[in-house]
Amino acid sequence: MRNRLWRGVFYNLHFTIYNPMTRDRWGSKLGVILAVAGSAVGLGNFLRFPGIAAQNGGGAFMIPYFVCFFLLGLPLMWIEWTIGRYGGGFEHSAAPGIFHTMWQKNRFIKYFGVIGIFGPTVIFIYYTYIESWLLGYSFFALTGKYASCTDQAGMTSFLQGYQGLVHNEHFSGTQTAYLFFLITFALNILVVCVGLRGGIERVCKWGLLALVIMAIVIVVRVLTLGIPDAAKPDWNPIAGLGFLWNPQWDKLKDANVWLAAAGQIFFTLSVGFGVILTYASYLTKQDDVTLSGLTAATTNEVAEVILGGSIMIPAAFAFIGPVQMQTIVKQGLFDLGFVTMPLIFEKIVCGQYFAFMWFLLLFLAGLTSSISLAMPAIAFLEDEFNLTRREAAAVFGVVSFILTQPVIFFLGKGVLGEMDFWGTSVCLVVFATIEAVLFGWVFGMDRAWTEMHEGSDIRIPGVYRWIIKYITPLMLITILGMWAWQEWKNKMMMTDVSEADKPFILLTRIGLGGLFLFLLLMVWIVWKRRPETKENAQ
Ligand code: PHE
Repeated sequence: MRNRLWRGVFYNLHFTIYNPMTRDRWGSKLGVILAVAGSAVGLGNFLRFPGIAAQNGGGAFMIPYFVCFFLLGLPLMWIEWTIGRYGGGFEHSAAPGIFHTMWQKNRFIKYFGVIGIFGPTVIFIYYTYIESWLLGYSFFALTGKYASCTDQAGMTSFLQGYQGLVHNEHFSGTQTAYLFFLITFALNILVVCVGLRGGIERVCKWGLLALVIMAIVIVVRVLTLGIPDAAKPDWNPIAGLGFLWNPQWDKLKDANVWLAAAGQIFFTLSVGFGVILTYASYLTKQDDVTLSGLTAATTNEVAEVILGGSIMIPAAFAFIGPVQMQTIVKQGLFDLGFVTMPLIFEKIVCGQYFAFMWFLLLFLAGLTSSISLAMPAIAFLEDEFNLTRREAAAVFGVVSFILTQPVIFFLGKGVLGEMDFWGTSVCLVVFATIEAVLFGWVFGMDRAWTEMHEGSDIRIPGVYRWIIKYITPLMLITILGMWAWQEWKNKMMMTDVSEADKPFILLTRIGLGGLFLFLLLMVWIVWKRRPETKENAQ
């Protein structure tokens, strides 16, 4: 295999004649919709959404959230399905090649596509690690390993022990966490290796089904909790729903709420990263993208606001009350999920099983998302270096495995947070802006609209022509500007970072910078060595 790999990377750079039969394809229309929905439905729906919504005042958050869905999320979903399918027609499945086919006259645009491989890879690196905690916790819930922790401090210490941040009576290092990480990581690579139909499609179909059933069971249980503490009648799950759903108009002027809402929409729909492009590139020209994109986005929103919105917030309202909920959520986005929820389940009859379901559902949601994060890099290696799926997955596996080690061993030094910042905040906004401008302006709105409706099952309302061309890019540029204004200087100068953590953050940046440069170099090599581009050969 080493030989083939070597040959693949260094000698097979020439273009092989496009043969649609050799290209991996989705098994069915439902299959690809479920794969995209699987990517979208993730930790973002059940952990991040309630956390961000609570941090931003519940009902104050939901209006900007829905506005961002219609003006940013949905248009980008359609854009990515369309340009992905378009690029796939030229045998490109990752952003550099796709961008190049859209703007062939420009020699530089392919380099911007690197963001669409780099971002998902960086997120994959830390996302799989968090995903593995959930596998661990579902196991602990069943075996009663954290049952002795009965308050917030005890459960926090359990989590920190698991993460290797402190040594305590529960854990004396990261061994257990590492074991669950190895299982999770191997599972991810395995699913991707098996391919679209047998691997990704199948896992997403069964994974989504199982997680939706478990989520419904938990929602019903949470909403029927009643008033757990008779002395505090306003602490009840329905008041939690009220907190989320009663609009608060006065907060609409707060730019931070808007930024948070936009960030959540991107993250939860998986748009603006480069992953949906890759999934859509395995469609054929006759396949629909409009109804499929809409269905995937709607499925995600139902899972997010109906299911995700009806678990943590109502449960926390009933058991710890609104004030403490806000305090916890401000300490850390995941504290409510990993610390408060297991404590709440301890107080419910058969809570152990509910806790098991809670963590397992999160794990499945995570798995169907992380496989999509691995795909852009793997598809790039396959398409541009003529590697087989297995070879590409092996190269990706080795590189991402090595890069995960600092996340695991220097977790307390801010490495994960730093990766999250570059992978989600920076790459996302820049990439989304580029693809929106490329679609509406360079490719041209008329052509884009026709391309979008090729083989389509529904017609998109005409107003979206205008939204996609003007509103989406304008909003993105505004977000980019606001974000740069607010964050750039502090982040670059590491003003919020403690002295002790600075070397770690610096090293993370150097590592990420190195990876980015390496990817740029790979793109350069591909286009330099290829005698003619795939699109010319068509
Ligand atoms: N959408 C996923 C979630 O909600 C996260 C994700 C982001 C997955 C980007 C793929 C790409 O958790």
